[in-house]
Amino acid sequence: MRARLNVVVGITGGIAAYKAVSVVRAFVLAGHDVHVVATENALRFVGRPTLEAISRNLVHSDLYDGVSEVRHVAIGQAADLIVVAPATANSIAKLAGGFADDLLGNTILASLAPVVIAPAMHAEMWQNPATVANIATLRGRGIVIVGPSVGQLTGADSGPGRMSEPEQIVAAAFASLTPQDLAGLRILITAGGTREPLDPVRFIGNRSSGRQGVALAQAAGARGAEVTLIAANLEVDPPASITVTHVRTSLELASAVGREAPSADVVIMAAAVADYRPDTVAQSKIKKETQGDVLDLRLIRNPDILAELSKHKSDGQVIIGFAAETEPDETKLLELGRVKIARKGADYLVVNRVGWSEGFSTFDNSVSIINASGTLVAKATGTKVSVANRILDLLSER
Ligand code: C5P
Repeated sequence: MRARLNVVVGITGGIAAYKAVSVVRAFVLAGHDVHVVATENALRFVGRPTLEAISRNLVHSDLYDGVSEVRHVAIGQAADLIVVAPATANSIAKLAGGFADDLLGNTILASLAPVVIAPAMHAEMWQNPATVANIATLRGRGIVIVGPSVGQLTGADSGPGRMSEPEQIVAAAFASLTPQDLAGLRILITAGGTREPLDPVRFIGNRSSGRQGVALAQAAGARGAEVTLIAANLEVDPPASITVTHVRTSLELASAVGREAPSADVVIMAAAVADYRPDTVAQSKIKKETQGDVLDLRLIRNPDILAELSKHKSDGQVIIGFAAETEPDETKLLELGRVKIARKGADYLVVNRVGWSEGFSTFDNSVSIINASGTLVAKATGTKVSVANRILDLLSER
């Protein structure tokens, strides 16, 4: 969980101001302290009581309120993050010019926090050379511009100028706080557990929820990587911003990996892949009336995707595998990991203990990471996102 942040949401006078309510709400629901600074014109579009109820704080608008507490600079100085949504053409021009004729302008000038703006205006205004130049100025100063998207505008017209959706704005705001140390890397991640069909209604599966793989995808995306996720029967939703290929069986997973791996700089095999699959898949439901008291299943080995990847990896490609083991003894667990990485040839192996109540399906995880020569290089315990970030640190450390 991210620490509680002091987030200033600046709202300027455009019709998209009504969507700023959802931006405020998303930050509040994520556990942050939200202070709305609205321009006078913004309050023509969205009511102060709505914003105060949703933000759970007073809304500030007037430059000459709270003078005794030097509010015109105090709000900006206390902010960890400033998000302006919507940012009108006028407010963008004022920001580019460094104007301080209203409370929002003062707040932004007095702050060292990252600033994220979500422009919203008619297409002609967005494409006007004055706005284009102002946006370039703001970008040059490190201000993050989210959108605008192309779509229906206020009237019957459509084009570029529609404010990005609140969830995209919030995601970009969080990303602005995260170092983009994995930018430029293409990372392929597998997540979940494969299911090997016995007949049209039954399968042999495992209890992997996909949470660790999804956490890896989420964390890698937030750190700027281009992520492709191959998802096998996930119990959790992957982030909407990530390209996902859904598979069910090991063979489907193997062919998806075969397609995607050649263009990846890093492959992380977090999926729990079945080692065996039923030799034959019955075309209709297997019936106890015809089987009697004993049902023999014949299983055959699946190809080892990780071992194949390691064997054919290209120069510079990094392959990371997982080893989920039930061994209770830490030393023996690591030894199993060492034997496994020697056999499979990956660059790193993330070793974790699994059991009835450990590893699989849980929110937390505890792992040891060994390198190709079997040396312990890192240990991590905590939420699956924090464990994911420790694994990804290995990539930025390289
Ligand atoms: O040998 P074991 O199944 O414990 O190896 C686990 C690692 O190997 C995981 O990274 C898993 O994704 C991968 N694996 C694979 N193909 C298999 C079985 C496991 O790529 N058939």
